[in-house]
Amino acid sequence: MRLEGKVAVVTGGGNGLGRATAQRFAAEGASVVVADVIDDLGEETAQMIVDSGGQASFVHCDAVNASDNHRMAAHALESYGAIDVLVTAAGVSHAGYKSGDHEASVKWFTKRMDYVERPADELLDLDLDDFRQVMAVNLDGTLLAAQACVAPMLEANNGGSIVTIASIAAKHPDAGPIPYVCSKSAVWMLTKKLARLLAPSGIRVNAIGPGYIDTHMTSMIDLFPEDRLTEFFANIPMGRKGIPDEIANTALFLASDEASYFTGEILHPDGGYFTE
Ligand SMILES: NC(=O)c1ccc[n+]([C@@H]2O[C@H](COP(=O)([O-])OP(=O)(O)OC[C@H]3O[C@@H](n4cnc5c(N)ncnc54)[C@H](O)[C@@H]3O)[C@@H](O)[C@H]2O)c1
Repeated sequence: MRLEGKVAVVTGGGNGLGRATAQRFAAEGASVVVADVIDDLGEETAQMIVDSGGQASFVHCDAVNASDNHRMAAHALESYGAIDVLVTAAGVSHAGYKSGDHEASVKWFTKRMDYVERPADELLDLDLDDFRQVMAVNLDGTLLAAQACVAPMLEANNGGSIVTIASIAAKHPDAGPIPYVCSKSAVWMLTKKLARLLAPSGIRVNAIGPGYIDTHMTSMIDLFPEDRLTEFFANIPMGRKGIPDEIANTALFLASDEASYFTGEILHPDGGYFTE
């Protein structure tokens, strides 16, 4: 019960890493606000937690919308009286990404495979609106959630922990398309900046930079032709994708008092990807 009595807000809690984190936090005693832009998924996560004896409720929040983020924070305060932990797991891999729409993701991924033969076209084909859409969800969304939740955290004067979800793409350009890698390296810098600004107030801010984790976002990797798939796994010393619980465990550590001397850090649960 490492989060007993704590209130946690998890953006992108409807699926994947956010859902696993919300469930893990609730199992550790937290009251969890599950926020997501896809209502069905978010409501399902909250219901799963309640069904297993935990405390959770869903609030609709489009990460790019400032008033949605403020409504999310207000919902946490009204429902549970405080915000102790924020995890920003809302994110997209590309413009138009919809979590759970496998067919659309396969279509996008198949087109991207052309860039293996002609890499410069990834730059030439890039649409500025698409670039901005990814930056908006991944970067603006992280900023807006922090702005909305930090105000009541400061007012409560009780410290707290913010965990952002970056990626190995924060540091390695090969780990995603142009907008994605740019957004994630910016999330990592934002994390360090907030860590310095909020340390005097007792609020710790850390990032998780996961490697390839088995969620909807990476499900298309299995479509690689045999030789590409072998090459893909050769870059991961542990030879497999991670599972969402492995990220939830990392988030739990950073959220809990066990990480009391961590701030401005990024942890990479990545199966050894960054050992090169
Ligand atoms: N899966 C991986 O391998 C991996 C690796 C590194 C980082 N990440 C990051 O982890 C985060 C979660 O990804 P995931 O793999 O769990 O994918 P996912 O598709 O399973 O979950 C993403 C969640 O974010 C929500 N979301 C998307 N846009 C949103 C918006 N505008 N407002 C609110 N919610 C929104 C989706 O509805 C979904 O519930 C993302 O930031 C992703 O970039 C994932």
